[in-house]
Amino acid sequence: MSIINVCIVGCGRISTLNALGYVGHPDARIYAVCDINESQARSRAVEWQAEVVYTDYRDVLKDPNIHAVELLVPHHLHASMTVQACKAGKHVSVQKPMALSLEEADLMISAAKEAGVKLKVYENFVCYPPYVKAKQLIDAGEIGEPISIRIKSNAGKKGMGWHIDASTWAWRMKEEESGGGPLVFDDGYHKFSVAMYLLGDVEKVNAWIDRTETVPGISWQDAPAMIMWKYRDAKKYGMMDIMSSPDLTIATNYYGIDERVEVTGTRGVLWVTRCTAKMMQIPALMVYKDGKMETYNHLRDDWADSFVDSTKDFIEAIKQDREPMLSGERGREVLRFALAAIESSKRNKEVHLDELESGKTM
Ligand SMILES: NC(=O)c1ccc[n+]([C@@H]2O[C@H](COP(=O)([O-])OP(=O)(O)OC[C@H]3O[C@@H](n4cnc5c(N)ncnc54)[C@H](O)[C@@H]3O)[C@@H](O)[C@H]2O)c1
Repeated sequence: MSIINVCIVGCGRISTLNALGYVGHPDARIYAVCDINESQARSRAVEWQAEVVYTDYRDVLKDPNIHAVELLVPHHLHASMTVQACKAGKHVSVQKPMALSLEEADLMISAAKEAGVKLKVYENFVCYPPYVKAKQLIDAGEIGEPISIRIKSNAGKKGMGWHIDASTWAWRMKEEESGGGPLVFDDGYHKFSVAMYLLGDVEKVNAWIDRTETVPGISWQDAPAMIMWKYRDAKKYGMMDIMSSPDLTIATNYYGIDERVEVTGTRGVLWVTRCTAKMMQIPALMVYKDGKMETYNHLRDDWADSFVDSTKDFIEAIKQDREPMLSGERGREVLRFALAAIESSKRNKEVHLDELESGKTM
């Protein structure tokens, strides 16, 4: 195929950022869109100059002109839509969290392997340029041996940043559709992913994940939450602190959620911030070593940049016949980490990620 024809499936809130990497790309284009909400699909098609509009996913699968699907739908649809697309011979980019369970993730991975198509889990934080640079610096030994990571996630006052339709929140409040809470399971997937991207595979986790109603009887959050883990095969530890401050105004162009990450090494310390929001008006990446602070002021650091680069990775993976940055297997490992944290909180004890494999006692 000379140009990869993509169908964007699910034209809701996040599709506006997913589309950015395709617009003007020499090797791919948004050929079709699909959404059960026809007017939404039609208006996005005009915006992205897509040729075809579908309202039924089965028609997308039958269209031989479509080479790849970008799945931007509620979580409970990820697994079945991925498996169906693979069987129809389409490459798949599926949003995080890839599935609701490890069993679903396994079905997705096998379906892609059997069909010989690419499966990308679209977790864009690992493409945020300051995290990419941080990883290069860590791998190059700039802070010595990494020994810990601290991830701070702050959700602020509702209504900050871009407009979010009530329908976008509605399915997230139903656990059978979302698979878990909005801060740890949904948004948290990004942070579990970053923790693994920067420091490696995780062995065990210990977590307290509370539940707070935001609008009584209607909406809730899986916070406050404190999650701690140990990396595999090394004295390396991590912790994540996910808090919601309902009266905190967060400067943002997107969601009102701010992240700050600190990685400690044997020789230096590194900080990354301003991925989703703009709370800290400091360079997005700073490194302290040998008694001096080095700042990285010229990195692309808009949250949208991580989407553009993540989409480029999907296109290149297809063109170059290589694994995408977050393959199905890596995406499953991030999911296992998230599920282990949730399980630890439920059981009120430490959980080894391996315990989540079937056949192991819980
Ligand atoms: N990478 C990120 O930072 C990020 C941010 C937000 C959302 N997401 C992910 O993107 C996905 C979508 O989230 P959103 O916030 O855009 O949700 P949304 O509710 O705004 O959009 C979902 C869209 O899917 C459509 N849809 C539902 N069922 C469908 C079906 N059977 N066929 C076709 N279309 C269908 C809905 O009509 C809606 O337009 C989720 O998986 C979410 O976790 C990722």
